[in-house]
Amino acid sequence: MSGNRTFTMIKPDAVKAGHIGAILADIAAGGFKIVAMKYTKLSAEKAGEFYAVHSARPFYGELVDFMSSGPIVAAILEKENAVSDFRTLIGATNPADAAPGTIRAKFAKSIGENAVHGSDSDENAAIESAFHFAGTEIFS
Ligand code: CMP
Repeated sequence: MSGNRTFTMIKPDAVKAGHIGAILADIAAGGFKIVAMKYTKLSAEKAGEFYAVHSARPFYGELVDFMSSGPIVAAILEKENAVSDFRTLIGATNPADAAPGTIRAKFAKSIGENAVHGSDSDENAAIESAFHFAGTEIFS
């Protein structure tokens, strides 16, 4: 069913700071079901590919370096209105603008090191999920 899945990554800053468990607890409390998950590390090449849409931005190099700097948790989450509800749960990209209680307000350090990624559309959720997971790794 379209609209019921999103893709997330717990980014290297949050993994390094020991926030995996707390972030997964917030995700579960938000009503999301984990249908795929892996603890992995992106090469610089893979991080560049994942964020290719931002390749013209001045922060692209910094983003690729950061996202390949340490392990991440990648996951596919299921819930009605998953993309939109997950973006509400994580808060604004810049933690300075993130609503109190959101994952970024609680765990993000800066606009670059912002703890989690969340897909911005159903189309990108599908593309990003397929980037990280084979069909045989998804269990609904
Ligand atoms: P994310 O939601 O993963 O998608 C793109 C990422 O680019 C974003 O989170 C931020 O981590 C990063 N980003 C966006 N704007 C900036 C910025 N001005 N400076 C550094 N990184 C940024």
